[in-house]
Amino acid sequence: MNVLGIETSCDETAAAVVSEGRVVLSNIVFSQIHLHRPYGGVVPEVASRNHLASLEDVVARAVRQSGLGWAGLEALAVTYGPGLASSLLVGLSLAQALALRLCIPLIGINHLEAHIYSPLLTTLEPAWPDLCPMIALVASGGHTSLIHVAAPGKYRPLGWTLDDAAGEAFDKGAKLLGLDYPGGPSIDRLSQAGDPQYISFPRGRVRSSTASDLCFSFSGLKTALLYYLRAQATPPTADALAHIAASYQEAIVDALLDRLQLAVTRERVAHVAVVGGVALNSRLRQKLECLARAEGVQLLLPRPEYCSDNAAMIAGLAGSGQGITGPRAWTLDVQPNLEIGETQLCS
Ligand code: KG4
Ligand code: ZN
Repeated sequence: MNVLGIETSCDETAAAVVSEGRVVLSNIVFSQIHLHRPYGGVVPEVASRNHLASLEDVVARAVRQSGLGWAGLEALAVTYGPGLASSLLVGLSLAQALALRLCIPLIGINHLEAHIYSPLLTTLEPAWPDLCPMIALVASGGHTSLIHVAAPGKYRPLGWTLDDAAGEAFDKGAKLLGLDYPGGPSIDRLSQAGDPQYISFPRGRVRSSTASDLCFSFSGLKTALLYYLRAQATPPTADALAHIAASYQEAIVDALLDRLQLAVTRERVAHVAVVGGVALNSRLRQKLECLARAEGVQLLLPRPEYCSDNAAMIAGLAGSGQGITGPRAWTLDVQPNLEIGETQLCS
């Protein structure tokens, strides 16, 4: 099945065409990062207005580049949550109108479940059921959670963040350090020249009496950085800044790895997927390789273009048979707070 996917949940306007849930025929992403950079974060009003201005062209390019033309499309998949309500609305409205016009089925997709599917894009083998049960670490700008995937579409949350997401911790830390938005790539770059042991920042362990010990907490780390910077008599030199960034990054990476390792040992899975924008982090990727070797698990990492928000993962997940279809898809409303696994409860 050839599926056109549309994604507008945050600040990327994206469309893609994917065949058989795995073969990406086109993947167009218009990133709005440059439009939000002056504000140091995503401004919802700016995001939705720019989705509106660029989505039509992004979709037309994806269809053209796929080589299939409009007539070759067999279904239309769209993100209906979670994300910014006014941004989701732009994608969902266009998708509903377009699917009606093309007389093809509409499929509503959960953005986070699509991230979990992203490592499966581009290779036909192995089939998804053969990789299950697996554990997925979803680490993005808005979400951080550990999910047990018993089978395609069967999700069980193991741990989640009690405050900031990992990507948010990178973004807020970068702001304190005076680095560019988005903070993840800025800290990643600067840390290449830094010593990760320079400062020992807290790893945000959660006591099991308050929540699952597989949960995350990053707000204390951000405060620790703030207090460290305030306690310095003079602004850090360029060298010290690289050391501070590397130490801060190390604390986020270690927190993610610590909980992931615990989950892998407890659940005894053979496959681990790490997905979302933070999966681009070079230090995380380096340390994940070591964890995978030590634990004897196979690591599933998406290709870089499928880590950050894109529509190929939306079309791919729909092509694999997941998502909301049938009459319910036509009356679907946006769900800004949609959780992983909720799509299955609704469909
Ligand atoms: O998945 P994504 O594109 O959007 C959401 O669904 O949130 O993730 C964006 C997040 C941002 O917080 C950004 O700082 C982070 O991913 N990010 C990184 C890197 N590249 C992007 N974090 C750490 N290291 C990176 N190289
Ligand atoms: Zn995302």
